[in-house]
Amino acid sequence: RPRSLQDAHGRTISYLRISVTDRCEFRCRYCMPQVMSFLPRRELLSFEELSAVADRFVARGIRRIRLTGGEPLARRGLPDLAARMGRNLGRGLDELTLTTNGTRLVEHAAALRDAGVRRINVSLDTLDPDRFAYIARSQQLPDVLAGLDAARAAGLHVKINMVALKGLNEVDIDPMMRWCADQGFDLSLIETMPLGHIDDDGENRFLPLTEVRARLADRYTLMPSEMRTGGPSRYWQVTELGLTLGLISPLTENFCAGCNRIRLTAEGKLFMCLGHSDQVDVKAALRDGGVDALDAILDQALSTKPLAHDFGVDRARPAVSRHMSVTGG
Ligand code: GTP
Ligand code: 5AD
Ligand code: SF4
Repeated sequence: RPRSLQDAHGRTISYLRISVTDRCEFRCRYCMPQVMSFLPRRELLSFEELSAVADRFVARGIRRIRLTGGEPLARRGLPDLAARMGRNLGRGLDELTLTTNGTRLVEHAAALRDAGVRRINVSLDTLDPDRFAYIARSQQLPDVLAGLDAARAAGLHVKINMVALKGLNEVDIDPMMRWCADQGFDLSLIETMPLGHIDDDGENRFLPLTEVRARLADRYTLMPSEMRTGGPSRYWQVTELGLTLGLISPLTENFCAGCNRIRLTAEGKLFMCLGHSDQVDVKAALRDGGVDALDAILDQALSTKPLAHDFGVDRARPAVSRHMSVTGG
């Protein structure tokens, strides 16, 4: 077999996102309702199974793996899983990364680095304690900030993920840019996507990043950057701050034509698109046919990967019923 994965639309698939748990102690308003039901633990793929899938998919052409959730570090022993997957680094796998809410980094940052992780993305929508408490429905801002210090101390490169919410954290964009520049972090702004039902505050919080970029351009020099991380972020250099700013604009500047990714959920379903419900059952294939059955299921997945999401901006009418915490972005 050639070590390159192609879908039916001629796209090369090289990036696997693995959600290791759907659980999270935060309840970010754009992500989950206050009351969520989570998967029973017995439904989760074991670390052995997750490693077997990762190894096989790397052998088939996956070059980057990102561990997500829910909150990936809420899964006990996660750095051990990272260390096992990290054995593929330099042997087909170019990068092993993680997207986290940051609360457990004081405990785990060094172990992640030792596992081969070099950079992490940390969700942080505001530095203001009251707005943080409102948006994430959590009092753990100090833990996140301590976690970020620990990540830096461990030598991890950090990118902050900030979901842009109209009338909520718009005022935080400028302070966040300055703070990230000071801290030596990159920053990505993200358009909120409608996944699953959430009991938000009833306002339409969608903020087009085209609008944000135009506003920023009045104050700053934004130079398009060639930097790529294999994800949908398009990067800009903010000259005055020395900041690398990523913009993730699924709704105003669709990037599906360049999509390179597939995503495995904690219960072993492989989704081909964040905005569709097409899926194949990796867990069943693995438990029925062993690792050799993974090739056929992967081929089947690739042949059905949709061309694009069909998200609209209307939060009241989500495009798919599952929450972001199930597929991890
Ligand atoms: P890198 O580019 O490797 O740094 O990662 P990333 O920015 O793709 O990953 P991260 O987990 O930090 O996700 C940031 C945001 O991008 C989240 O809101 C994800 O839901 C979103 N995102 C990631 N991949 C896709 C995708 O394929 N389609 C869409 N629509 N959104 C995505
Ligand atoms: N739209 C856009 N981004 C979201 N995230 C969670 N829910 C949504 C949503 N509805 C972001 C989180 C995290 C990343 C994995 O996805 O903030 O940084
Ligand atoms: Fe947790 Fe991330 Fe969802 Fe926030 S966006 S509730 S941190 S999974």
